[in-house]
Amino acid sequence: MISGALDPLFADKWHDIRCVDLACNQGFFSMELARKGCREVLGIEARQETVNEANLMRDCLGLMNATYVQGDVMAMDGSEYEAFDIVLMLGLIYHLENPVGALRIAKAMTKGVLLVESQVGPEIEGKIDWGTCEMQQPVHGAFTIIDETEQFANPLGSVTGIALCPSPQAIVWILKALGFARVEILPLPDNAYEQFVAGKRVMIAAYTA
Ligand SMILES: C[S@@+](CC[C@H](N)C(=O)[O-])C[C@H]1O[C@@H](n2cnc3c(N)ncnc32)[C@H](O)[C@@H]1O
Repeated sequence: MISGALDPLFADKWHDIRCVDLACNQGFFSMELARKGCREVLGIEARQETVNEANLMRDCLGLMNATYVQGDVMAMDGSEYEAFDIVLMLGLIYHLENPVGALRIAKAMTKGVLLVESQVGPEIEGKIDWGTCEMQQPVHGAFTIIDETEQFANPLGSVTGIALCPSPQAIVWILKALGFARVEILPLPDNAYEQFVAGKRVMIAAYTA
């Protein structure tokens, strides 16, 4: 799905492209981008042990265009680096207590395309009363509260314990509100993972132009 979105945009210019993978874990997806020949691929990951594993893998594969550093994405504001052509934010926002802030940071780091992959919760649509029954606000999606406090030992999970899992339309609406010119939920390949097929996960591309 990632290559399907990126290859048409960058196929003949990978050597000029800079990418960042936010919450990269052991770097599987960022190393796939490095293998395409990107000029620079940076992976940022909260857990030092996981960063060490990513660096070991990078060395074994000889992908010297990839770099892995320890960092809390939520402690960043996006100005720490020159903006990237490609930003990956895969499997992160539903582990966070501030997913909107995370998407804001990702927007600040993107000069081309941002790919957001997420577990999603139930959708809410319609309107709610706002202050008085005579005033109403449209609903643009929803967040589901998830308790990850017992899961600190899980190296794939939250580092704070309280997580807000977005609905699909919540992610789309927020990305548009943050200023992306075009936002689309990516189509599924025939062999898509069962969670995508069941609508429990989405991969969303947000383009700056
Ligand atoms: C479900 S894994 C997804 C990893 C990878 N992006 C992927 O799609 O395979 C979530 C990752 O986010 C990392 N993580 C959680 N909170 C983070 C934060 N605030 N800053 C950076 N990484 C974080 C975890 O340590 C874990 O490696």
